[in-house]
Amino acid sequence: MTALTLSTAAVPGLRADAIVIGVAKGSAAKPAGPIVAPGAEAVDQAYDGKLAGVLETLGASGAEGEVTKLPAPAGFKAPLVVAVGLGAQPGKDSGYDTEALRKAAGAAARALAGAKKAAFALPLTEAADAGAVAEGVVLGAYSFDAYKDNGGSAKNGRNGKAPLAEAALLGGKPRDKAYKAAVERATAVAEELNRARDLINMPPNDLNPEAFAAIAQAAAKEHGLKVQVLDEKALAKGGYGGILGVGAGSASGPRLVKLSYTSSKARKHLALVGKGITYDSGGISLKPAGHNETMKCDMSGAAAVFAAVVAAARLGLEVNVTGWLALAENMPSGSATRPGDVLRMFSGKTVEVLNTDAEGRLVLADALWAASQEKPDAIVDVATLTGAMVLALGNRTFGIMANDDAFRSAVHEAAEEAGEPAWQMPLPEHLRKGMDSPTADIANMGERMGGGLVAGLFLREFVGEGITWAHLDIAGPAFNDGGPFGYTPKGGTGSGVRTLVRLAERAAAGDLS
Ligand code: BES
Ligand code: MN
Ligand code: ZN
Repeated sequence: MTALTLSTAAVPGLRADAIVIGVAKGSAAKPAGPIVAPGAEAVDQAYDGKLAGVLETLGASGAEGEVTKLPAPAGFKAPLVVAVGLGAQPGKDSGYDTEALRKAAGAAARALAGAKKAAFALPLTEAADAGAVAEGVVLGAYSFDAYKDNGGSAKNGRNGKAPLAEAALLGGKPRDKAYKAAVERATAVAEELNRARDLINMPPNDLNPEAFAAIAQAAAKEHGLKVQVLDEKALAKGGYGGILGVGAGSASGPRLVKLSYTSSKARKHLALVGKGITYDSGGISLKPAGHNETMKCDMSGAAAVFAAVVAAARLGLEVNVTGWLALAENMPSGSATRPGDVLRMFSGKTVEVLNTDAEGRLVLADALWAASQEKPDAIVDVATLTGAMVLALGNRTFGIMANDDAFRSAVHEAAEEAGEPAWQMPLPEHLRKGMDSPTADIANMGERMGGGLVAGLFLREFVGEGITWAHLDIAGPAFNDGGPFGYTPKGGTGSGVRTLVRLAERAAAGDLS
């Protein structure tokens, strides 16, 4: 992954493949051309103060995500200047928005695939800005090439080019503790998020529940976490009917992984639960072609939880974080659960399975109940749970539901602080009766309208009495079918990771609502 340093080097003499600068959109009051952002003064001077005009000639407007490449001025050691759009200029007394910086850094890092070293001269006004740029660089430079024909030596990724190897952040304060801490934090979070992306992008013939559990065990060893893996036998002994029922059709058996990070200074305990369907074919209620090509992404929730627990450990947060990965492959076969079957869940409740494609709520129900037994201060589950949430919120925003209004707001705030688009959704009581079953305590399907909320209401039934809980439905943003944008690549995005890390940080500060 891209190596980062804070540097005070002067731009003209800097040895690098490129200098990245920021361009903002002109305001309506002035002629509306692009405006060179602070940090690019040396480059502008070398262009005799005419850089804005040069950029305008090249078609630059300063719009977010826009990348304009131009030759570096004479006398510069670096051959290339990359001007990246920051969007609107900030108000007089404030710096650029951290998310604009993160996106710009990401777009530039991606455009620099194939380069060895780039210097980022973006406008930094405080430590958090340096953190945002660092995060954007590491996330934007990401590429998944483990399955390219070169065997993953990273030469063949992204149009045959390796990701940017090294980035120097200019304009910060390398000796300032806050700057250093912000860059270190950003690097740790972004690296773990990239590992979540790797898991999501891994083909499902290689990443089955057993393989995922083994990866979690290896990471636990590396980071000093406690790990416990329940295999089919242990799940049967423990009565985990939901996870077993979903995994019953697959040749690769299900797993429940518990990953614990503990701090001696912890005052709070946060439990994270992730949906880990390594492939969702729909089961006997088989998905049609056109709906199954990207269903390797159905373990994105578990990947996010996994990454967040490891990140919490790397950051040494003063909070206890327990991750629960509910892993199964949802396949049709002679041993698969049928529509009409009744499962006895870990909580003791019975569920009539009306649609085997509503499998996420079944594995989550058992994991939520397991997490509840430890009486954590809060539980947050993350899941690619419903197509309905994608219809409601689109491809970039996840939905937040909760059994507590204040906690739902806190999770939303954490998402905003992290730069993840999210929106609060209700759990309307009247939708519960649609899941009444003539045979069992509850059915795994209800009304079609409001399907994302119905799924949330189902999950709520498996949260222990009195425990604060929130549910993130990341079905929209988890996987990017389209082209890359900002710091988001094609494929697995790592949606949810940064929100969970922010929440863990808030919990460490004793602030969970
Ligand atoms: N994994 C899917 C949801 C999904 C859809 C994730 C699109 C990512 C993109 C989930 O298991 C599912 O199939 N849900 C069904 C539930 C229905 C049968 C009640 C759905 O949303 O159609
Ligand atoms: Mn499904
Ligand atoms: Zn699913």
